[in-house]
Amino acid sequence: MKRFLTAAFVAIIITGCSGKDPVSELADKVFTLAQQQYTDMDASLQEGEYPRTTHKDGTLRTSDMGWWCSGFYPGALWYIYEYTGDRSMLELAWKHTLPLKDLLDRHTDHDIGFQIDCSFGNALRLTGDSTAVVPVYVAAARKLAARLNPATGVTLSWDWVRKDWRYPVIIDNMMNLELLTNAARISGDTTLRSAAVTHANTTLKNHFRPDWSSWHLLDYDPVTGEVRSKETVQGHADGSAWARGQAWALYGYTMMYRETGMAEYLNAAENIGEMIIRHLPEDGIPYWDFNAPDIPDALRDASAGAIMASAFIELSTLTEKASAAETYLETARRQLLTFGTDEYLAAYGENGGFLLKHCVGNMPENGEIDVPLSYADYYFLEALVRYVTLMEKD
Ligand code: GLY
Repeated sequence: MKRFLTAAFVAIIITGCSGKDPVSELADKVFTLAQQQYTDMDASLQEGEYPRTTHKDGTLRTSDMGWWCSGFYPGALWYIYEYTGDRSMLELAWKHTLPLKDLLDRHTDHDIGFQIDCSFGNALRLTGDSTAVVPVYVAAARKLAARLNPATGVTLSWDWVRKDWRYPVIIDNMMNLELLTNAARISGDTTLRSAAVTHANTTLKNHFRPDWSSWHLLDYDPVTGEVRSKETVQGHADGSAWARGQAWALYGYTMMYRETGMAEYLNAAENIGEMIIRHLPEDGIPYWDFNAPDIPDALRDASAGAIMASAFIELSTLTEKASAAETYLETARRQLLTFGTDEYLAAYGENGGFLLKHCVGNMPENGEIDVPLSYADYYFLEALVRYVTLMEKD
């Protein structure tokens, strides 16, 4: 809904210099490429493999379904189907979605939200096939909700611990609450929605600094619920703002406002968004950590930029402030147009079959540095679909 965008702003976007919106033109180009790259990727996958990133030689590196990212490839296929309407993409999307039901019989962590919502959630949204989706979706949500400890008021991220953690919770968990709110709507089980709200409220209370940047990990006492430590895992330092964590927070509170209408979540999303915008370089793609010591030479993280772009587009439709709506949408446009340059967008046959280049997975562990990542592509495609859908409305 473009209700908060001024007519002048929309006219500038849509007419541009060539008479066409460059972001909409980019979407056509990207989805044509995605159809080709992702079809070829499917042909190269063995059963049970999911695209993850690339090896050092640039070839595709896969994971099994247990890796937190297994839902992003089927999820991206659902967006490609949505945009192109190509039935072969529908078949591929189902092919890579349905096997993920086996996650229900495995040990899983908070990431079951990413794994099931991006795959089965999009399947339900686009096909309405409740027989294939609902039992898996609701069972996955119950698995996630069971990770909420009433003493802490947050879902546990990982069962494994390191250092002296007792109950580690990362900002990333915010993303997985959509599985709970959706499953509550589908099943009528309101305890799932309450679990999501409880987690979001506790995170809002504890996980943010006065400037609205967030810590990556909080360790809780599982008995008293007290916060024992605030630290990082994938960021530069305990006190720094790891870019993808900020992106998860922005997306998470935007989504929770959409899901609940609770004003405190919109307030959080707007404040997080403003903090992010203050830290973005000119081209809109964040450094991998907002406090990386080697800025402006620090690596960018396209995955964080893609998550932010998708969230900013949604937030532009939810805020009540016209000038903020334009700022959010303009920021997302800047990010998407940068992704459309040769610097970030792969050519056909390149980049292990992925679309976006230049992501950072885990810098402190020297893992997945300056590579493509399946979730960067997923949120990039989601952002483009959201953008084009928004522009087609009214
Ligand atoms: N959720 C894991 C990550 O963002 O790397």
